[in-house]
Amino acid sequence: MKATCIVGSARNNGSCAYLIDTLISGMKAAGIQTVKYCISDCNINYCTGCKKCYVNGKCFQNDDVIKIVSDILSSDYVAIAAPSYWADIPAQLKTFIDRNTPYGDTNPNRALVANKPVKGIAIAVRAGIRETENEIILNAIDHYYGHLGIQTIKRISVCQTNTLDDLLNRHNDVIDEIYNFGNSLN
Ligand SMILES: Cc1cc2nc3c(=O)[nH]c(=O)nc-3n(C[C@H](O)[C@H](O)[C@H](O)COP(=O)(O)O)c2cc1C
Repeated sequence: MKATCIVGSARNNGSCAYLIDTLISGMKAAGIQTVKYCISDCNINYCTGCKKCYVNGKCFQNDDVIKIVSDILSSDYVAIAAPSYWADIPAQLKTFIDRNTPYGDTNPNRALVANKPVKGIAIAVRAGIRETENEIILNAIDHYYGHLGIQTIKRISVCQTNTLDDLLNRHNDVIDEIYNFGNSLN
């Protein structure tokens, strides 16, 4: 079993990173091989909108996108944790998703498709109190998964978390839930 786990924040050491590391710990204890990416540390250029990938099945740009997508599509599980930035996903994660256009099911010439079912986990973190804003984040991740043929099996919303201290002080229940969920997968 393999899992690709992505920190979708501009920060590689915040709450999303902590929750992804927690998930990875649970998965590793279950014997799952894990690959982790922090989207902010990756070299991902903007989609230029040229649509050549609709003809070629691939992007003309050579950066980290193909490696990340190859890991995702050869995994049994993929997890993305993202914070709310202005009630949406951070630009770094959006840039990555835009660049998945060669691999989405709206592309008639996509060259890379998963050869087995991939299951998706979505985690949203925000400072404010309303769950509805995190639904926007979770829906964006779910929408991305859907176009790659990935079935979302878990959505986790964490509110009232502006800092890592907030997460650690207020949300031990969610931290335990995420560890146990990772550990339950096989
Ligand atoms: C540019 C920016 C915009 C943000 N916008 C929102 C927002 O609209 N709603 C909200 O609840 N939190 C917002 N936040 C707070 C983050 O969602 C929160 O700090 C989150 O815990 C950060 O996760 P991280 O530590 O993984 O980066 C914003 C933070 C930044 C840096």
